[in-house]
Amino acid sequence: IKRITTATLQKLKNSGQKISMLTAYDFSFARLIDASGIDVILVGDSASNVMAGHETTLPITLDQMIYHASSVVRGAKRCLVVVDLPFGAYQSNSDIALASAIRIMKETGAHAIKLEGGEEIIDSVKRIISAGIPVMGHLGLTPQSIYKFGSYNVRAKEEAEANKLKSDALILQEAGCFSLVLEKIPAALAKVVSQSLHIPTIGIGAGPHCDGQVLVMHDMLGINTEFRPRFLRQYLNLYEQVTGAVKQYIDDVKKGGFPSESESY
Ligand code: KIV
Ligand code: NA
Repeated sequence: IKRITTATLQKLKNSGQKISMLTAYDFSFARLIDASGIDVILVGDSASNVMAGHETTLPITLDQMIYHASSVVRGAKRCLVVVDLPFGAYQSNSDIALASAIRIMKETGAHAIKLEGGEEIIDSVKRIISAGIPVMGHLGLTPQSIYKFGSYNVRAKEEAEANKLKSDALILQEAGCFSLVLEKIPAALAKVVSQSLHIPTIGIGAGPHCDGQVLVMHDMLGINTEFRPRFLRQYLNLYEQVTGAVKQYIDDVKKGGFPSESESY
């Protein structure tokens, strides 16, 4: 099978085709999502929330991200695999950022990394790209800065923040990023940014004009039904389906209906 590369994503944008991206954190789901024909799997630091049960993305460590990413890579035969650099693994200086990015590439077999932020992390972005590692940017609502923002509300509604975002997007493109995630910003702003950049934008809660879309797998499959922001389309209610199946199993066990004779040796 031919592997999707960063060049494939650029071709998709150039020809006006949309890019599909979903998160995954383990081998089995990565296999299902890859087999469905997804373009990109993101091993997001949202693993901190949906896999580990933390309230924010801050606690997840580089070692934990590497464990998730290496599992995903073993299940993803065709798609591009992008891995988040977690909080603390790049913000302090570009030496640390480069070392973290190299660890992810060496120890997981993933194809690219993603970091949050614009101008403030640009030295790190440049050095990682210079080392031959493709970088995806991430602007707008950047969850590693949640305590700076104070809420998960829409970002860049005011002109000053919108202008900073537009300028950051250009700086990241200029530094050589192959793509950019735009999270929870007004659709009109995402449209302007997507049209002004030659690299593809991938939106989440950023409207229909981005060059691609991303959702967190657990949210779109309805594993967690309490998290229901406006931007989320739930394609399945796995919560109901899994609890239904497990209740049935419990019932069968309690009543002695499982296993049957044909299920025994
Ligand atoms: O960690 C994550 O899942 C992400 C996406 C929501 C873009 O960064
Ligand atoms: Na993330």
